Amino acid sequence: MDPMDFAVAFHRDAYRQGPGSDESTLQALKAVPDWTGVKSILDLGCGTGAQTMVLAMHTNAQITAVDVLPEFLEELEERARRMQVGGRVTPLLESFDELTVEPGSFELVWSEGSIYHLGFTRGLEYWKQFIAPGGHLVVSDLCWTTDERPAEIVEFWTEAYPEIATVEQKLAVIEASGYEVVDWFELPQSAWTDNYYEPIRARSPKFIEDYGKDPAAVEFVQMGLEEANLFDRFGEFYGYVFFVVKPVSTVSLTTDSL
Ligand SMILES: C[S@@+](CC[C@H](N)C(=O)[O-])C[C@H]1O[C@@H](n2cnc3c(N)ncnc32)[C@H](O)[C@@H]1O
Repeated sequence: MDPMDFAVAFHRDAYRQGPGSDESTLQALKAVPDWTGVKSILDLGCGTGAQTMVLAMHTNAQITAVDVLPEFLEELEERARRMQVGGRVTPLLESFDELTVEPGSFELVWSEGSIYHLGFTRGLEYWKQFIAPGGHLVVSDLCWTTDERPAEIVEFWTEAYPEIATVEQKLAVIEASGYEVVDWFELPQSAWTDNYYEPIRARSPKFIEDYGKDPAAVEFVQMGLEEANLFDRFGEFYGYVFFVVKPVSTVSLTTDSL
């Protein structure tokens, strides 16, 4: 098995594949102006669809849910069917850095815990073209939440995610990428512990039982547990932050109109 197979085997039955919570998803949705009337959502890096279901249950939107892992999309489809929103959720197996969807066609572009795969700045810049006029982008991403922090955790996260930065620095990147900020908020620590690290700890022994003969599987689990342990020790210094943003409207001037 390669590392991606381990990731699938480990995470496909999980409620979420990253830090987050239904309450936070809903809080971010409600921060979008006129959210009740949103008709089209592009959910990028949807995983097995925890946030997709919240979006589907609280809007009447058609949702295109994009991921590169077919197994995750199968789970998402099954969830959507169980929750009777399958008619409004379309799974799309493709990479979110080479999207084939129509530019300018989504009132809401959503990315929960996944922009880091593409890079924060690249994601903001590339995904902007898919937002319909007047629409919004909502992303959650890893941020430093204090001005100072211990070297050990700085070293770990700078290597794992070089674009980790303070909220102020991320807000500056957002503005430099041609957006204005509508709202932002930090997710509670329980979004990591209850919905991500505790489930990782709970699933690890069975995973080792099933796949532990492969040293790569053991290494995969150890990496997850190390991250969870670091969060116990240093979680006060970083967190996931939701950003609700919209492209700055540009008025194009032609020489005729000058
Ligand atoms: C940390 S998980 C978050 C999943 C889900 N949004 C959640 O919060 O539970 C990141 C997701 O991004 C997906 N992903 C990674 N690279 C991708 C790419 N290039 N295109 C589309 N999805 C991608 C992964 O398969 C995974 O499902």
